[in-house]
Amino acid sequence: MRKSGLLIALVVFTGFSFLSVRKTDAQTAKAGKPISPDLFGLFFEDINYSADGGLYAELVQNRSFEYNPTERREWSQFSFWEYISPGYSYGRISVETKTPVHPNNPHYMVLTVEFVGSYEQFKGESGVGIKNSGFDGMVVRAGEKYNFSLFVQQLSDAPVLLSVTLQTPKGKVLAEASVSTASKTWQKYTATLTAVEGTDSASLVVLAKTEGQLALDMISLFPEKTFKNRTNGLRADLAQKLADMKPAFIRFPGGCLVHGDGLGNMYRWKNTIGPIEERKAQRNIWGYHQTAGLGYLEYFQFCEDIGAKPLPVVPAAVSCQNSGGTWRIGGTGQKAIPDEEMDEYIQEMLDLIEWANGPATSEWGAKRATAGHPESFNLEYIGVGNEDKITPEFEERFKEIYDAVKTKHPEITVIGTVGPFHSGEDFEKGWKIAEELKLQMVDEHYYVQPEWLMANVHRYDKYPRSSGKVYLGEYASWGNKLKNAIAEAAYLTGLERNGDVVHLASYAPLLAKKGFTQWTTDMIFFDNVNILLTPNYHVQKMFMTNQGETWFDKIISKNESDTTLAASCVQDSKTGDIILKLVNYSDTGKPMKVNLGKFGKIAPQAEQTVLSGQPGDENTFENLQKIIPVTSSIEVAKSFEYAAPPMSLTVIRIKESGKK
Ligand code: AHR
Repeated sequence: MRKSGLLIALVVFTGFSFLSVRKTDAQTAKAGKPISPDLFGLFFEDINYSADGGLYAELVQNRSFEYNPTERREWSQFSFWEYISPGYSYGRISVETKTPVHPNNPHYMVLTVEFVGSYEQFKGESGVGIKNSGFDGMVVRAGEKYNFSLFVQQLSDAPVLLSVTLQTPKGKVLAEASVSTASKTWQKYTATLTAVEGTDSASLVVLAKTEGQLALDMISLFPEKTFKNRTNGLRADLAQKLADMKPAFIRFPGGCLVHGDGLGNMYRWKNTIGPIEERKAQRNIWGYHQTAGLGYLEYFQFCEDIGAKPLPVVPAAVSCQNSGGTWRIGGTGQKAIPDEEMDEYIQEMLDLIEWANGPATSEWGAKRATAGHPESFNLEYIGVGNEDKITPEFEERFKEIYDAVKTKHPEITVIGTVGPFHSGEDFEKGWKIAEELKLQMVDEHYYVQPEWLMANVHRYDKYPRSSGKVYLGEYASWGNKLKNAIAEAAYLTGLERNGDVVHLASYAPLLAKKGFTQWTTDMIFFDNVNILLTPNYHVQKMFMTNQGETWFDKIISKNESDTTLAASCVQDSKTGDIILKLVNYSDTGKPMKVNLGKFGKIAPQAEQTVLSGQPGDENTFENLQKIIPVTSSIEVAKSFEYAAPPMSLTVIRIKESGKK
């Protein structure tokens, strides 16, 4: 644990005493302490099928025939596709690489149609083609439109007519369109399909109705209704749940995915912008395929769409220490980019800043403008490294990147990294580097038991105020039961109290697809239709939608010896609202006293939102609503007592008198 000679952990509890542990100066007591306006945000990583098959709204799986056995032994370039030749038709398919749409996307499928059968006695469909059922079936809704596109190179002389349909598992056609090829070079064709009926298990069928030979690639289908109707967009219902939280920032693209499974597997941002057919798909460190369809452009755009600051994390020129297999056991797998390649690598970081913020006339700003976003994305933060093992190779490279970025862009806050745990060798070494370089911020990570959080609610009270700020970039208590969420809530009051030193915090991981998870404790679970919001989500949302910029001491008091209670008081400068958060991590109701004497006149009716229940309660796909916050009104006064229900988080939002 980092020690500070400057601060004294002061706990003076006599009977009911104030929930204050730091000595505060007179000014803080009166006017409150300014805290980070960006405190609570989101962490997004493509883990648990969060991106492809998750937040990214693409319905076709393996759309560009890039799946391969190095991702999963049983996968091939044709995985998730089925060759079909209904009726008396016949032909053949092969996956080839000779003349791809783009070198980043080397594989494509060649479809040879030798005969399209149409015997009078045969009443069914005819043609030769392929079928894709997406990520365990495509969800199609009656009356909704679906945007289909594909790239075709007509290899035979005659044009080929393609029928495009959405079908139920029994072959009932739900939507149809057709496309006729017209070019011997790669060309993109599009069609809109309108569903006459809905199902959760549709397939896309592309069928050649005339004879000939075609090369096909990037076969894509998106619902027209993506989040904010963006092309190449996000699944609207899932994205909305994130938008509802009003996060101050979003960190992306990870996690371990950032530094990758070996040098060749690092997440390189330049591979993830531009037209989707030019992006470089790759194996995901979590054991599946990432198309990069959800790439930097989409991440930045989503941040802008929901008013969150973008927080990209780039590799510190070293790969994950767990590369090559044994997750969390290794420590030997870190590989470093060779010295002679560092200049080029550093330029990639500088180019990212230019791409995000530079004028549309700059080299990289122009690429952003071409993609439809001439305005700056207003990038403020960049994380360099993700819980890396702090080796000499890491340290040398981190410093080089840091120096280059800070020299060219002093306005950017570079966030360092201090290993995967709340203490220990990497933590100490990481902080030492931070202190030497006078880093503005470092990224702490820890996954712990709820008891650890309760015992460490005062962790940051002891942090020095004069050195770097903390970005608590990944944390969670192991579990999605109410008691986990309430322990997290208690911990978050400690982050608010220390919002002058903890600048950013994000729970992790964010999303997990039912049946496809690699990490058991997550904030939101989903399948293709349902979204399960955990109690942890509700706690996060209650804090995010009730952030303030000023923290006040000595507002809420409790029994001195009771460590199951925690609380904090902040004020939101935009509305002037006084916001109380009161946490009871015990199985009995307990009183806390509120004294609003230092504020002006307050409205007598306030809004309270309470999340409470049994410690072991959790939401399930069978009962999505077992644990949800309940909002009602409450009478408040300058001084009042609040009975905190057992195992609960309460947020009370108090208006200044006369304000709506
Ligand atoms: O959040 C899941 C993983 O936990 C992240 O990828 C990694 O950074 C951490 O160890």
